[in-house]
Amino acid sequence: MLSLQDNTILGQVGPGTMMGDLLRRFWVPFIEASKVEPVASDPVEVELLGEKLIVFTDGEGRYVMFENFCPHRGTPLYYGKNEGDGLRCIYHGWKFDSTGACMEMPSEPARSNFKNKIAAKSYPVREMAGILWAYMGPQEVMPGLPHIEWVGVTPEMRNIVRYNQECNWVQALEGDIDSSHVGFLHRGGLYRDSSISSQDSQLLLYDTSPRWVVETTDYGMMLAAQRTTSDPAHDYWRINQWLMPYVTMIPTDLELRRAHGHMWVPINDVQTQVWCIIWSPTEELTQRERDNVQHGPMPHIATIDPDTGRLRATKANHFLQDRYLQRHTDLLSGIVGVREQDTAVVEGMGALADRTREHLGTSDIPIITMRRRLLRDAKALADGVEPLAASTGEHSGVRSWSALLESDKPFKENPRVSELMAAMA
Ligand code: FES
Ligand SMILES: [Fe+2]
Repeated sequence: MLSLQDNTILGQVGPGTMMGDLLRRFWVPFIEASKVEPVASDPVEVELLGEKLIVFTDGEGRYVMFENFCPHRGTPLYYGKNEGDGLRCIYHGWKFDSTGACMEMPSEPARSNFKNKIAAKSYPVREMAGILWAYMGPQEVMPGLPHIEWVGVTPEMRNIVRYNQECNWVQALEGDIDSSHVGFLHRGGLYRDSSISSQDSQLLLYDTSPRWVVETTDYGMMLAAQRTTSDPAHDYWRINQWLMPYVTMIPTDLELRRAHGHMWVPINDVQTQVWCIIWSPTEELTQRERDNVQHGPMPHIATIDPDTGRLRATKANHFLQDRYLQRHTDLLSGIVGVREQDTAVVEGMGALADRTREHLGTSDIPIITMRRRLLRDAKALADGVEPLAASTGEHSGVRSWSALLESDKPFKENPRVSELMAAMA
């Protein structure tokens, strides 16, 4: 449970809000690079952290991001003409170079130096892993790009899909650090999902109330969920990470063959862009694995509409819930698609979950820890303390895993744990 005040702080992402300021200390992914022509492109509209923006390439192929607002009278620069060396607003012809500086102000007398005082608001953009990332915070504390594992593998070794969700980003993110829901919400579909093996899904279902080891780290949080198995000598452990503020790493299968993660990026207070990444650290994904993500027998994402980037399963159609499947099969949710199942439960909470009314149990410890960290860092930043997690992109190089570990040893004292941690770092 949170106070109304903390719930409000947690939910706001716009400029000048506490959480909005914290989010602006990190590089934020926003669109596939392939959606923007490589040289002198037309502007593409983007909304990110509650700001209306455009992105385009200039005549030399550099990415440029402007606020979608002409500093003259506020006309959307989206309508502007890309002249290669600058973007010209169609209303009165003011032209801005790739840094945002005003180059020409043809509606003012030639002798006026007014243009020297005017600039379009702009943000740096970088391309990494086929995705464009923006930095919307103060230049003097700009960190390096995050070294997430899937960024460093070849395109053939990863599969990336993006869609939008109609709710606040924190409640969407909470689903990924909540191992206890997996045995319920995703029951009946897991073993058919390409990203999880049947052995893992049986282990998940054997013990539905995991115990937690939660560790706060430089990058955010490490979570270890412990489940008993039918073998008293071994427990099933699933380890995942939350990389502040919006990246999650979901536990791998026991064979450590495939990893899986998400990015929960705030479009505004009530919409979230979800990036879903499956990758292999060592080999290329097969075409079948790629196809299964959206078209498998139990697809990870079942209903993406490629025209809108949204799910066709929505709150309005109750996520296409099938009551027959719910009553007569092991699919507890009656909803097809793992992402659809997650979306149904978090969108159903409302655009911003009312955390003043919830009742948290021991299974919610990771969520409590995550919220505390976000609120603590946001409040500290308001007092002038920069967040540790944004100090460098280097510490993002961690990976999730799962393992059967001897049950008579505490987690940290198990030699296999140090071995796995070292191998994944
Ligand atoms: S509003 Fe853009 S030039 Fe006037
Ligand atoms: Fe889930």
